[in-house]
Order: sequence, then structure tokens, then C-alpha cells
Amino acid sequence: MTPGISAQEYHERRAALAESMTEGSIAVLHAASLQYKSGAVFHPYRQESNFLYLTGWNEENSVAVIEKTGPNVGDYYLRMFVQPKDPREEQWSGYRNGVQAAEDVFNADEAHPFSSLESMLPRILESATLIYTDAQALKSSTDNWLHKWFSGRDSKVSQTPLYPVMNKLRAIKSPAEVANMRKAGQISGRAITEAMKRPWTKEKDLHAFLDYQFIINGCDGPAYIPVIAGGDRGNCIHYTVNNSTFNENEFILIDAGGEYGTYITDVSRTWPASGKFSPAQRDLYEAVLKVQRTSVSLCRADANMSLDDIHGVTVRGLVNELRKIGFNVDMGSISQLFPHHVGHYIGLDVHDCPGFSRREKLQRGHCITIEPGVYVPDDEKWPSHFRGMGVRIEDSVCVDDQAPYILSTEAVKEVSDIEALRS
Ligand code: GLY
Ligand code: MN
Ligand code: MN
Repeated sequence: MTPGISAQEYHERRAALAESMTEGSIAVLHAASLQYKSGAVFHPYRQESNFLYLTGWNEENSVAVIEKTGPNVGDYYLRMFVQPKDPREEQWSGYRNGVQAAEDVFNADEAHPFSSLESMLPRILESATLIYTDAQALKSSTDNWLHKWFSGRDSKVSQTPLYPVMNKLRAIKSPAEVANMRKAGQISGRAITEAMKRPWTKEKDLHAFLDYQFIINGCDGPAYIPVIAGGDRGNCIHYTVNNSTFNENEFILIDAGGEYGTYITDVSRTWPASGKFSPAQRDLYEAVLKVQRTSVSLCRADANMSLDDIHGVTVRGLVNELRKIGFNVDMGSISQLFPHHVGHYIGLDVHDCPGFSRREKLQRGHCITIEPGVYVPDDEKWPSHFRGMGVRIEDSVCVDDQAPYILSTEAVKEVSDIEALRS
């Protein structure tokens, strides 16, 4: 079961999908497969995001078929093909919902055992005018019948990718989705502030502390492998080995967030390992913070800006602020210090709605990150006292009409607040 998201909301999502499909068309979704780390050692199961969004169903070996049955909202028919109950299998691999629950609890109009797929699905699909699916891209394509059906000669019905339609629906979050992300943000923000109160010597210990805090305070677990970096390791954007030690005179940079009900939060903070900013640390940190605050303030519909527009404001802001503290940097060279985008959409996935344009004007319900960073290489073209420093400040933000709703506000970021935590 997925906390906060009601059966009614799942129905509304399917109705919205059907509404945006063409007449007589069908959408086909395949559940994710269990992924293996090595040999028989498996990762925790994670449902494919669009499948989860439309059904709430959290098991593998399942297919959902949504047929548009008429022109009105709610005119759709949901068929599910799922793993049947099987005591012997369940003794080894965990409990299953079963076919009956797909109808009774998940509100499929019809549910069948997964083994019926091959005999039942072709007839259903061949009656369609168009099939929306991403099944061609299934990873386990070699033995996947659905993949073969869609990529083989058997398929006479025209197909179109489903994900662009799903992205449009998923980009705008419902109040229940925002509430889940707020909960993830609040728990994660508090955990990060707790971490700032203590001295740390090992990256690994801080990593474990954050994971533990996320979980004991109600998150399902970490949303992604965090970056826990001391000193110039913070300049590696995807530093995740987290196995070194902190120096008192260096920054700690963390990028870590928890997940609640499969909704994530994405937060980065940077603070001095000593608890007190040196003059150079303060100058660089304040420059990034000032720009971050301005960019967060633009996350509102009445600013009429896209993520790309906010990126432009961020880049110009960083050039201005960095020049004030002695960097010889301009619009041509700023990417050497700030090499990534200011933000991305968030939701079920950390990088949510993959492929959804960052040129879309932000509207109420869009949820995004704002994460400017400055990473100063050990290069003599930059002022010596900043070399090797990396600073990123990232909040998860929900766009509202006239103001941003900051989902991760419990993670402190003002210099005076950070210093007060250790004094
Ligand atoms: N934590 C991944 C990112 O900030 O995009
Ligand atoms: Mn992040
Ligand atoms: Mn991010």
C-alpha cells in the first residue's frame, strides 16, 4: 500500500491518462523486474514509476492494460495480469497480493494470472486504434514476450511511446503527493540539521547517521546513494564512496534525502567541519547562498519562468557574486565552476519525468530542486584561498501561485544558524 495516495486518486490518474489518449486506444505497462546486485543477491524491489503511479501495485511479473472506452472523464477499463497467490513460491520470495486483490483492493475491472497474458493480450491489443507503451524498451527483452510482441512482425497496430503522456500528468503534483514529499523533506531536513550539531571524523559515520535518522523518523529509507564528502571530494559531483575522513579546516558537503511512500526529497548542504566558517569559507558560502535564495524565490507561477530561465538567473548571479570576492570569471568560464543545471523535477523519481522539458513555465504543483554549486579546482586561475572548496546548497521546492513552498526547510542554511548549532 502507498501511504497518502487513495484508491480514488489512483482512479483519477487512470482517468486523466485515458482522457489524454486518442479514441479507441490502449495503454500497456509492464512492471519492473527484480534487479540483482550479484548472483542470487537482489536489490530491494522497486516498481516501474509509471506502473506505480497508475496502479499502486508493487509486484513484478505484472502487466496493466488501460483501455479508453469513451469520450468522458472516467471512461476507461483496467485489466491487470498479476502473479497469483502461491504458498510454495511465497514461502521463499515473499507474500503476494494475488489476482483477487487486484480487483478487490486495486480496483482492476478484470484481473487474470500473469500466465494468461500471452493468450489474452493479442486479441485485446488488435482491437485498438493505437497502443501507448514503453514495453519496447524493456530491459529483460530477451525472454520477454511483451517486448517480442511489440518489436516483432506480429504487431499490426501502431504504437506510440507512453512516457511523454505520463510525464505531463506526473509533472503536476496533487496535494497528497506534495504532502508525501513534504514529509520526506521535513524528516530529511531535521536529520541534516541534527548532523550539523555534531563533530564528524568519518564520511561513513555521517552517511550511516543520516540513513538511520531518515528511517527511525518515518522515511522508508534513503532516496538515493548520498554524497558525503569532505574537502575537495565535494568537487566530485557524484562522489558516493563516502569512505574518507574529514579535516577540521575543510567543508563537509552532503547531498542526501529520504523517501516516503516512494516520493523523494533531494537536499544538499555544506558546512564547515569545525562548526565555524573561516573567512574564505564564509565568502564562498554566502555567495552561493545568496544566489540560491534568489533562485528559490522564483519558484512561483507568477514569476512566469521555466527551470531553464531560473538556470540563467542563477548563472548570472553566480558570476556577479564570485566576481565580488575576487574570481576572474565571466559567462564564458562560469561552467568551469558551476558545471551542472540549477535543478530538475522531483517526485517518485529523483530526476522525475525524464525527458520532460525544462523550458516549461513553472506552474502550481511542479516540484523541483534548486541547487546551485561552486566547485573550485586546484588551478592557479582561481584565488588561492578558495581552491579545493566545493559548496552546493540544494532545496526541494514545490511551486505555488505566488510563493515557493520549500519542502526541505528544516535543513538550516544561514551561516549564523549553522554556527549556532555547535556553539
Ligand atoms: N541527488 C542528485 C541530484 O542532486 O540531482
Ligand atoms: Mn541532490
Ligand atoms: Mn538534485
